[in-house]
Amino acid sequence: MGEKKSCYVTTPIYYASGNIHIGHTYCNVCADTIARYKRMMGYDVRFMTGSDEHGEKIQKKALEAGLSPKEYVDKIASSFKEVWKAMNISYDYYVRTTDESHVACVQKVFTKLLEKGDIYLGKYEGWYCTPCESFFTDAQVGEGHLCPDCHRPVHWESEDSYFLNVKKFVPDLLKFYEEHPSFCRKDKLNEMINTFIKPGLDDLCITRTSFDWGVPIKENPKHIVYVWIDALLNYVSALGYESGDDSLMEKYWGKDTEIVQLAGRDINRFHTIYWPILLMALGLREPDHILVHGLLLTKSGVKLSKSLGNAPSPYPLIERYGVDSLRYYMVREMQFGEDGAFTPTQFVDRLNADLANNYGNLVNRTLSMVNRYFDGVIPTYRSPSSPLTLEMMEKAFSKIEEYVSLMDKYDITSGAGKAMELLALGSKYFDDMAPWNLAKEGKTELLEETLYAACELIRMGSILLSPVMPEKTKEALDQENVPEELRSFEKIKEVGKLSLIHVNTLSPLFPRLKKDEELSFLTKLIDGE
Ligand code: MSP
Repeated sequence: MGEKKSCYVTTPIYYASGNIHIGHTYCNVCADTIARYKRMMGYDVRFMTGSDEHGEKIQKKALEAGLSPKEYVDKIASSFKEVWKAMNISYDYYVRTTDESHVACVQKVFTKLLEKGDIYLGKYEGWYCTPCESFFTDAQVGEGHLCPDCHRPVHWESEDSYFLNVKKFVPDLLKFYEEHPSFCRKDKLNEMINTFIKPGLDDLCITRTSFDWGVPIKENPKHIVYVWIDALLNYVSALGYESGDDSLMEKYWGKDTEIVQLAGRDINRFHTIYWPILLMALGLREPDHILVHGLLLTKSGVKLSKSLGNAPSPYPLIERYGVDSLRYYMVREMQFGEDGAFTPTQFVDRLNADLANNYGNLVNRTLSMVNRYFDGVIPTYRSPSSPLTLEMMEKAFSKIEEYVSLMDKYDITSGAGKAMELLALGSKYFDDMAPWNLAKEGKTELLEETLYAACELIRMGSILLSPVMPEKTKEALDQENVPEELRSFEKIKEVGKLSLIHVNTLSPLFPRLKKDEELSFLTKLIDGE
């Protein structure tokens, strides 16, 4: 366990400009897994997500829908909350950039930085990409005048604008990177340094006057705060920064808090360059980690995205496979930090191999043998007599250690893999012990030992997997009737306390999927076979 006892976990706030698709849910599932893991390890966690509700793009969308921008974002924000509920995202606070408290925070920050001289009035001219809400230089848009991020055409814009004194902070930023190697993965950070910092970072234009759906600055209300500055400040406005009540800031943005922020690689630039600079300008501490994650791609390597229309809603998948199977697939199949394809074949194979054949099958085999041979009562624990049992338990304990060390490094993909490896020890153990033969041969003590050990394995594996699959692991522990106090990580190694528990009726945790049927269902939703 780390030394810090409070932990602040954030996701980017999602653009309130359409529906949440499966690609978006990836980030929140990973963040939720981290938040649940930290809670399990005894941290006081605050987990935050929300919606990014200002900007020209949203204003246009509202107009198209025949609604006022506020009516439009209200509808979208409630649809987002429904998706997060369906995905079992355990956020503690949902921030909206239209919240009065957020707007007030943005205005106060602006005034503060203007008074400090880190914001100044100037004139902006440059290439602007409306869908990305970003300005670019000649070199970045190239001869074709295309946005370097989304490859759509950009247009020239010129307006009176306020600027953030970014250049001044660059040396401190580079020093900060040097001194905090765990701030962001080296390759992801180097990409930012080489693409944006080395060629020379300009001061950032942080107001707009060409539209009005945003936070007006107090000093000059025809200026609206640039949506990215508005959005980034959510991470502290949600803790009451500049509200007059510092209690949450002290607790979750203090020096002893572990601050873990997730962001997709497409928005890395804002989180590893401008966000630390804003914090420096405000005299606030930097986050411990920006965990830059990869993107879900189609089989042909295209990003799943709203504008490309290739990204399914999560609902049909949740309905057919259950939310935990979907969460597990995302965490386990795609190496956290790397891009990965979401393909029907991999989806079905992963669910069958890990959930139906490994986890589900171990629960099913163990509990049905407890029913068959011991009338549903877990045998009394005795110190193991078989070297095979001792060896299996030893291996299980080291898998727990390895799991913790991976999860502490936020390698949730390999962490989930370790939990599966722990459960897989069960099949091998059954093959070696052959409890059905022990029953036939009347070797009751050894049979008791075997089933008892398998029950412990199910308990341990379920605890480790609970941050990824909170519902299914609870179901497994309920089927085994494990007392509440033995479900905590703290008690995971307390072997010996399941004696004489009466297990509950059995129903398969994860049905084995028929590949052909599922592929025909899935290929209608998603590209690939
Ligand atoms: N509003 C900004 C974030 C502001 S945070 C101060 C934004 N919103 S978004 O709705 O476009 O994206 C939200 C998150 O979803 C981002 O982390 C983004 O990387 C992620 N994803 C969007 N499509 C994705 C995939 N296809 N795959 C994985 N994550 C994806 O950016």
